[in-house]
Amino acid sequence: MILRRLRGFSVRSLRRGYLQKRKHGRGSGGRYLSGKAKELVLRALVVGASGGIGAALGAALRRRGEVVGLSRSGDGLDVTDEASVARVFGALEGPFDLVLVATGALAPEGRGPEKSLRALDAGQLAAQFALNAAGPALVLKHALRLMPREGRSVFAALSARVGSIGDNALGGWYSYRASKAALNQLVHTAAIEVARSHREAICVTLHPGTVDTGFGAEFHKGRETVTPEAAAGNLLRVLDGLTVADTGGFFDWSGARVPW
Ligand SMILES: NC(=O)c1ccc[n+]([C@@H]2O[C@H](COP(=O)([O-])OP(=O)(O)OC[C@H]3O[C@@H](n4cnc5c(N)ncnc54)[C@H](OP(=O)(O)O)[C@@H]3O)[C@@H](O)[C@H]2O)c1
Repeated sequence: MILRRLRGFSVRSLRRGYLQKRKHGRGSGGRYLSGKAKELVLRALVVGASGGIGAALGAALRRRGEVVGLSRSGDGLDVTDEASVARVFGALEGPFDLVLVATGALAPEGRGPEKSLRALDAGQLAAQFALNAAGPALVLKHALRLMPREGRSVFAALSARVGSIGDNALGGWYSYRASKAALNQLVHTAAIEVARSHREAICVTLHPGTVDTGFGAEFHKGRETVTPEAAAGNLLRVLDGLTVADTGGFFDWSGARVPW
C-alpha cells in the first residue's frame, strides 16, 4: 500500500518536475530560478515532513520545485528500524537534489531530558542514539542511490547546537546532547566517503535555532523563538550558500560554523 502510494507519487512528481524544469529552463547545468539568483530549483525529499520544522521546509520547498515528503505518522517510516527505511526508500525513484532529515526528539516519549547523572539510563541513551544519530545516518545510507552522481546535491540532517561539545557550558540533557554529537560525527564521516563517488555532493548537519514547535516547548519558555516558517527560510538560505568545500560541516541557521 505504502509502496504503491510512493510509486504513484513519484510518477506524478516526475511529470511535474519535467514541467518545472521546462518552465524554469533548467537543463543539465541551469539550476537557478530566473530573477532569484541562488534559490535552487529542486527536487527535494523531506524526511520527517509531519514535524514542525519538516512541514515548514516542505511548504517552502514546494514553492521552488517538487517535494516528496515522508513521515512516520503518514507513511509508516520509522528511522530507528532499518527494514522500514529500506522498504520506503526502496520504493522511491531519484534523483533528488536535496535530501533533508528533520526527524528527532528531545527524549523518549513519556520521559524528559536528563538533568543530572542520577537520571542517566542506558536504555534512554540507546533510544536517543537510535533516533537522533543512527536514524538520519540510515536515511543517508538508503538515500545515497537517489542522489545524482554528477552535479550539486545536498544531504542535510537537523542536529542541534547543544550537540556541540565545545559550546557546552551548561551540562544536562545527556542523551540528547550525545546523540546529536554522534549525528555530527556520522554525517562528517559519511561526507568523506560520499565525496569519492558524488564529487559535488554536500553533506551537512544544521542547527535550526530555537523554533516554536511542539518539540521541547516546555524548555523554550522565556527564550526567544522563531516560527517554523522563519526557521525553514533560514535553513534553506544556508543550504543555498553551501559549496562542496563545506561538506562534512555543522552550521547554524545563520550559516556560521558551530564548533564540534
Ligand atoms: N524545535 C527546536 O527548537 C529545535 C532546536 C534544535 C534542534 N531541533 C531539531 O530539529 C529536528 C526537528 O524538530 P521539530 O521542532 O520539527 O520537532 P517535531 O515537531 O517534534 O517533529 C519531530 C519529527 O520527528 C519525527 N519522528 C520522531 N520519531 C521518529 C521515528 N522513529 N521515525 C521517523 N520519524 C520520527 C516525527 O514524526 P511523526 O510526528 O510523524 O511521528 C516528526 O516528523 C529535530 O531533530 C530536533 O532535534 C529542533
